[in-house]
Amino acid sequence: MRKKILCTVGTRPEAIKMAPVIRALQADPSFECRVLATAQHRQMLDQVLDLFEITPDIDLDIMEPGQTLGGLTGRLLIRLEEVLAAEQPDAVLAQGDTTTVLATALSSFYAQVPFGHVEAGLRTGDIANPFPEELNRVVASRLSRWHFAPTRLSADRLLAEGYPAADIHVTGNTVIDALHHVAATKPHIGLALDPGKRLLLVTLHRRENFGEPLGRICDALARLVEDNPDVQMVLPVHHNPNVRGVVHERFGAMDRVLLCEPLDYASFVAAMSRATLILSDSGGVQEEAPALGKPVLVLRETTERPEAVSAGTTRLVGTESEPIRAAAQTLLDDPAACAAMASRGSPYGDGKAASRIVEVLRRDLC
Ligand code: UD1
Ligand code: UDP
Repeated sequence: MRKKILCTVGTRPEAIKMAPVIRALQADPSFECRVLATAQHRQMLDQVLDLFEITPDIDLDIMEPGQTLGGLTGRLLIRLEEVLAAEQPDAVLAQGDTTTVLATALSSFYAQVPFGHVEAGLRTGDIANPFPEELNRVVASRLSRWHFAPTRLSADRLLAEGYPAADIHVTGNTVIDALHHVAATKPHIGLALDPGKRLLLVTLHRRENFGEPLGRICDALARLVEDNPDVQMVLPVHHNPNVRGVVHERFGAMDRVLLCEPLDYASFVAAMSRATLILSDSGGVQEEAPALGKPVLVLRETTERPEAVSAGTTRLVGTESEPIRAAAQTLLDDPAACAAMASRGSPYGDGKAASRIVEVLRRDLC
């Protein structure tokens, strides 16, 4: 009999990283794959589901404007309990460290359904950074039957925390599977860019950067655009209202700055490919850009993705204005240094992570 796997997705990055797993499960006759969209994100989730042609079997449509952590978690726990009782899956999968993942792992535990954690073992070691994702990851690990670790380093962290080696599987990161799939379609950016100017691509959304850190980051970005007339900056603005207002007020009237709606994933991959330099506080971008041969300055105080820092393709520059500006200016002034940073290669996998995950599930469940 086919085993029923419930795959949960809530936000944009979860959908990107679960899409290869969902597609691999759907293609495997041993499994019945059920897709649950919590819709912690609405528009940004739908963009990805449309691109990968995934239609959720269940959609909780949970997002509220300006939702709080407690409110979202509470609503998710109530709704997930109902879904798990109705669906009776043989296993549940979720990816990453969002509130959707925390609630899915906890609900699976309450329902006594085995939970598989995709992208397991990422840690900064600082429970407040990133907030609240580090806590979500730690709790998800505690509740997992399968830990699908993207790298050897993440597997080693789980071993050091005492999880059994037999439950930990190094698979690579499924984002590379998604990236290969989309890059093969040769996507276009779909934005009117000046072909004569170098492109700085920027994304901002981390909760711990809201307020003063975001202001300091914007100061640095504004100086970079002012000081470099041959540069244009593209910033697809996250829907989070804590980002939208600040960024539009700051850059709305500035020359050579293009603020746009979040790009669909294919267009964003094209934008990364076109960029001279990427500045971002995103997790996924730290994994994708090295695979595309693009340098990233990480606008955070910590990272749970040190593999690319060690490889030299990403650099942690913090959230103080002057170090960000100086690091970016050095790379803009020295194309050879920029190119050297970009050519270090990708430590996050070979694009076959999803099939490894499905293989483990087949071995253990079928
Ligand atoms: C969430 C995750 C974060 C992840 C990020 C990916 C948590 C606590 N945070 O952060 O780990 O890196 O998603 O982008 O789980 N909104 C919309 N439309 C959308 C998406 C968001 O309007 O499509 C607005 C809503 O007002 C919503 C707010 O953004 O209430 C915040 O969304 P939320 O998912 O709570 O937090 P993010 O900052 O997006
Ligand atoms: N991304 C996208 N469109 C954009 C900006 C980012 O599709 O306009 C993709 C990006 O390629 C990556 C993912 O969204 O795969 C990262 O999402 P985000 O930064 O919101 O979350 P995080 O990875 O930090 O959890």
